[in-house]
Amino acid sequence: MARRAVVLVRILAVALAAIMPLLAGCVDTQQVKILAAKFNVTCLVVFGDSSVDPGNNNHIATPMKGNFPPYGKDFFRGRPTGRFSNGRLATDFIAEALGYTKAIRPYLHKRLRPVDILHGVSFASAASGYDELTANLSNVLPVSKQLEYFREYKKRLRQLVGAGKAENIIKNAVAVLSMGTNDFLQNYYLESIRPKQYTLEEYQNYLASCMSDDVKTMHSLGITRLVVVGVPALGCMPLVKTLMNQETCVEKYNNFSSSFNSKLNVKLDIARKTLGMKIGYVDAYGIFQDAVNNPKKHGLIETAKGCCGTGTVEYGDTCKGMSTCADASKYLFWDAVHPTERMYEIIAGQAIDSLQKQLMA
Ligand SMILES: *[C@@H]1O[C@H](CO)[C@@H](O)[C@H](O)[C@H]1NC(C)=O
Ligand SMILES: *[C@@H]1O[C@H](CO)[C@@H](O)[C@H](O)[C@H]1NC(C)=O
Ligand SMILES: *[C@@H]1O[C@H](CO)[C@@H](O)[C@H](O)[C@H]1NC(C)=O
Repeated sequence: MARRAVVLVRILAVALAAIMPLLAGCVDTQQVKILAAKFNVTCLVVFGDSSVDPGNNNHIATPMKGNFPPYGKDFFRGRPTGRFSNGRLATDFIAEALGYTKAIRPYLHKRLRPVDILHGVSFASAASGYDELTANLSNVLPVSKQLEYFREYKKRLRQLVGAGKAENIIKNAVAVLSMGTNDFLQNYYLESIRPKQYTLEEYQNYLASCMSDDVKTMHSLGITRLVVVGVPALGCMPLVKTLMNQETCVEKYNNFSSSFNSKLNVKLDIARKTLGMKIGYVDAYGIFQDAVNNPKKHGLIETAKGCCGTGTVEYGDTCKGMSTCADASKYLFWDAVHPTERMYEIIAGQAIDSLQKQLMA
């Protein structure tokens, strides 16, 4: 009987995997909920940078904030929250697909509800990276601090539901790790410390080993399911194109983005084998490339410029109070660095696909 149920779940997972590509970017929440229930996934915990920070930086002394208009223009009731986008992030869509909340709360939120503790929060901090120095440069939360908050979070979860149940929730939780962009754009290419110590390739190896250590720490803290998001095609970011004075994607930047992702994947393979963790990978690079090369397929029109201001240089403070394009849902980029809510929805679709194929099969 139990065996038959397992077979059924497998068949369901395979069937879902087969239809997911057809849904290109739209999230079939009903089926995800069924699958998540079968695999006891009731909690989502998030680590990373602005790609997954729902507003932790609002609560710390850093200039790296997105809690003013026009950020949040298309969020529920048009409210800026600290998310570096016009609306929700990929992790919000994933949380919704799992069936808990439409918007995952930042751990540093002043009023976390029991439901947030039960179903997960984000520890991410905009401008952070795999290199602890990257976070230090902007005075934001490095991964070590994000993991320290996770330990504190686990304590709160235990207080809420008891030790046994808390352990079970974490064991079945899905963790997301999404960063790397700032290690290159805010650190290596802007500051002199790391270039003096490492060649670009050595620095990539260093970052990949940092990631590998972070994954080991997560494992030691009870996490068994993880989704790692690779870096996007950095050469296609409007800011990078402006700085390099190029109309098309900057090949050199795309090349090192993709070689860095390969290094991450080598480490992830090792982690799967040595730690026995279930680890999914989201190919953000491929998703960006596809959106730039085939915008219509994703319902996009503008992939070269951001929606905020001139769309060529503004992000964070320089986007503050700027006018925007009329319809951000037709744009890949919201500002000169960060994706729109629509692009995040596309990324979430792929992340859920990876979740189903690599974590719940
Ligand atoms: C889900 O939880 C139930 C009850 O706690 C347990 O019997 C079952 O084995 C779990 N399934 C998975 C896939 O972890
Ligand atoms: C950054 O590094 C300096 C020097 O090591 C240290 O004094 C400072 O506390 C660090 N800042 C943060 C936010 O970690
Ligand atoms: C980028 O990589 C491609 C394929 O490996 C190679 O042909 C090209 O020369 C590289 N371009 C730069 C600017 O490094």
